[in-house]
Amino acid sequence: MLLRRIRLPWFSVLKAQVTIPARLQRSCETLNSNRWLHTTPHPSPCAWKARDDCLELKHGGLVMQFDYMWLRDHCRSASCYNSKTNQRSLDTASIDLSIRPDQTRVDNENLFLTWPDGHITQYKLDWLVQNSYEGQKHSAMQPRNLWNASSYTRADARSARWEKFMSCDQELKLFLNNFLLYGIAFVEDVPATVEATELVTQRVSLIRETMYGRMWSFTSDYSRGDTAYTKLALDRHTDTAYFQEPCGIQVFHCLRHEGTGGRTLLVDGFHAADQVLQKSPELFAILSQVPIKHEYIENLSDHCNHMIGIGPVLNVYPWNNEVYMIRYNNYDRAVINTVSQDVVQRWYRAHRALTSELRNPENELWVKLKPGKVIFIDNWRVLHGRESFTGLRQLCGCYLTRDDVLNTARSLGLKA
Ligand SMILES: [Fe+2]
Repeated sequence: MLLRRIRLPWFSVLKAQVTIPARLQRSCETLNSNRWLHTTPHPSPCAWKARDDCLELKHGGLVMQFDYMWLRDHCRSASCYNSKTNQRSLDTASIDLSIRPDQTRVDNENLFLTWPDGHITQYKLDWLVQNSYEGQKHSAMQPRNLWNASSYTRADARSARWEKFMSCDQELKLFLNNFLLYGIAFVEDVPATVEATELVTQRVSLIRETMYGRMWSFTSDYSRGDTAYTKLALDRHTDTAYFQEPCGIQVFHCLRHEGTGGRTLLVDGFHAADQVLQKSPELFAILSQVPIKHEYIENLSDHCNHMIGIGPVLNVYPWNNEVYMIRYNNYDRAVINTVSQDVVQRWYRAHRALTSELRNPENELWVKLKPGKVIFIDNWRVLHGRESFTGLRQLCGCYLTRDDVLNTARSLGLKA
């Protein structure tokens, strides 16, 4: 093979020589690292620049920068990656942190890199677009429809039906799609028993056992040290903010109610957070950065528990500012003692702004739960509450493990 030896400006700094096969030279307009290099025939959909510290790639309408170490570490060749187990075989710690490719080549669909030891890495360009930082920061991890009361009602998200839900994957998929988009979803015609409620939840995921048990069923009997076990109204909140990992999904089934009141209140916490972001980005930032403690202390003869959870009210992915969890429970919020007074002052302003959005009547969806109608609530997103009630009201439900709900959704082909 005819080879031409070329000393590249950026490699000369590193005192390294690069060998590029002559047949590849025609694919380069120039070897200047500050200019775009194209595939042949030109014009092509892809161009690249070999910078000192990264490879810059223009493809699919994106300009992306890939660290050289990253490009070696993510190699999908058979010796570096086990495609049967989808696990990395390459020992990342064995890679020279200042590694650079000896050769770089791009065709219309692939990037080829030859490393100093002769190993060749091939990436699909579309894979790089999907997995680049620049691609990720413009896309949501989880597509969602933010809602207020009227937009949710207009969306007319259909409830699943018990019999079909239990036997048909398409019905389960439709249910989960609604759950992912809105953070709430319903199954109707469920037999009004704890056992049937357990079956309907197990169709979706695994039950998460907590100190409240596996399946819980309660009336307003004050049997636990929590306001939920009374007939009082409950302001909007998320549950178990006092866990290090708050419960992912809450399930409610009202088995019986002989009395008045007791409607369930639902508020899309992500919509409220988005309103704060639009109106006051600096207040949104405070809510996403200040760690807050929530605490549950129960001292009853049968139940002694002390739980502490710490985290910001708004948990966001730093690369795209997408909220993935809201912890909002004014009942269980503990003493604020982890930030100085000036931050406390700003945090209360931010908390007030969020609370105003959460309490905006336009954002309140009121639902009367009745026997047969099971609701699944994304406890990382949708706040729940209730109005006070009279008479006997028996409610049952459970928590589900979040990972397994999302796992079920992905297995059905949904983005979760
Ligand atoms: Fe609750």
